[in-house]
Amino acid sequence: MSAPVAVQFHEADFDALSKAEGRLALLLAPEGRPGAVARRLDRQMRGAVTRAMEGKAWDKLKPGQSLDLAYPAGIAAEAVQLVKLPKKASVQEARKAGAAIGKALGESGVTVLAAGQPKVADVALGLALRAYAFDRYRSDRDGGKGAVTVMADKPDAAREAFAPMAAMAEGVCFTRDLVSEPANVLTTTDFANRLSDMKKIGLQVEVLEEKDLEKLGMGALLGVGQGSESPSKVVVMQWSGGKKGEAPFALVGKGVVFDTGGISIKPAAGMEEMTMDMGGAGVVSGVMRALALRKAKANVVGLVGLVENMPDGKAQRPGDIVKSMKGDTIEVINTDAEGRLVLADVLWYAQERFKPSGMINLATLTGAIIIGLGHENAGVFSNDDKLCAAFLKAAEAEGEGAWRMPMGPAYDEQIKSRLADMKNTGGRPAGSITAAQFLKRFVKDEVPWIHLDIAGVALPPKETTLAPKGATGWGVMALDRLVRDMFEG
Ligand code: BES
Ligand code: MN
Ligand code: ZN
Repeated sequence: MSAPVAVQFHEADFDALSKAEGRLALLLAPEGRPGAVARRLDRQMRGAVTRAMEGKAWDKLKPGQSLDLAYPAGIAAEAVQLVKLPKKASVQEARKAGAAIGKALGESGVTVLAAGQPKVADVALGLALRAYAFDRYRSDRDGGKGAVTVMADKPDAAREAFAPMAAMAEGVCFTRDLVSEPANVLTTTDFANRLSDMKKIGLQVEVLEEKDLEKLGMGALLGVGQGSESPSKVVVMQWSGGKKGEAPFALVGKGVVFDTGGISIKPAAGMEEMTMDMGGAGVVSGVMRALALRKAKANVVGLVGLVENMPDGKAQRPGDIVKSMKGDTIEVINTDAEGRLVLADVLWYAQERFKPSGMINLATLTGAIIIGLGHENAGVFSNDDKLCAAFLKAAEAEGEGAWRMPMGPAYDEQIKSRLADMKNTGGRPAGSITAAQFLKRFVKDEVPWIHLDIAGVALPPKETTLAPKGATGWGVMALDRLVRDMFEG
């Protein structure tokens, strides 16, 4: 596991700064003049900071952006990064500033002078998230990231404010690792083992095996996995930090460890990306990890359906009719519309067993959501305006793009089957919405529910503010905050 970099908090100290090897980063507010320690460091550097701050390049920087002074005279550091950050920076600006430092972090480490900056914990969070790298398969990888020391006005307060954020960062990095792992490593069994390991941090974890799923009648989920050598599994993770006996909130994730499309096989170009088709399950796992690490005062259950969608002599065929745990029959028109089949059974099981107070599922469900929203926003589908508003607020606060999409019975026409209760595809028009309508049939009307289609945001084609190119862990922070807002207020 690539854990996020550890962050140490200390008081501002000129001697330590001027002797620190590796990189320095100075958080400088554009308003007013630098603090006493920064000014003393500037004098030690023969006024290089002052000169830089009088230049045009500094003027043009937006909050959270930076410029580098390489091999400065007078101090030990190899570079000094000047980061523009107003004292009244927003949370997003503070994280962005941290990310600029995290992006530049190498083996030699960094010492950050954050004196005068109240949002120092958010700076540290941005730093930790952006410094992440998934490089375990690179023989030429360096010796890992060096130490991170942040000098703050009130190091104890900063450390305390950062503790729950560090838990969240670890959840995000856990999700990113899972999403990044290739499918020959992250099999259904390996995934389940990694989740079982979280018993160590206090989660209750159960793995339901194929024979259990058969007994439960999960014909929809089992049909998807029947062409794979890897056994299908459902993993249940429970965090019971809230009131005893209070119904849990449920998180459900699509965990297709690889999606070839099955017999309705996908084109070769780009198929390697389908190692990320367990992204929903990855986010659920990351949130559970964060909640356990920060000992959240809430009851939350996370359930993931782990399957592999392969073509094979035993694979499901187009035209097959399967029976879901709910009892509804489904005609499988296209074996590549497999995520909804997996979720149908896990959603139903979650409600039957846990009677949750609300439920959110996450899935890399449709290519159509990328056509609609690109890589900036996840698609949000809900049967409950209140829960939906609370989620959108949490996502906004965490800077995770989310956009509500419409639902409605009119779309059900598209998933009517000639032979069964429904079919698993609704054609090209409104492809993401018909998928949501399909899921809704497995959600009880009285359960407030959100479906998040994260196909576009789980693994975008470019780096984002807080993540290098690759897996983002989108949703971990929003859901962690939603749990806080709803149950820990
Ligand atoms: N896993 C895919 C959706 C996907 C596409 C995720 C691109 C990430 C990036 C899903 O299982 C799928 O294949 N959906 C089909 C549904 C169609 C057959 C109705 C799709 O979107 O084409
Ligand atoms: Mn598919
Ligand atoms: Zn899929």
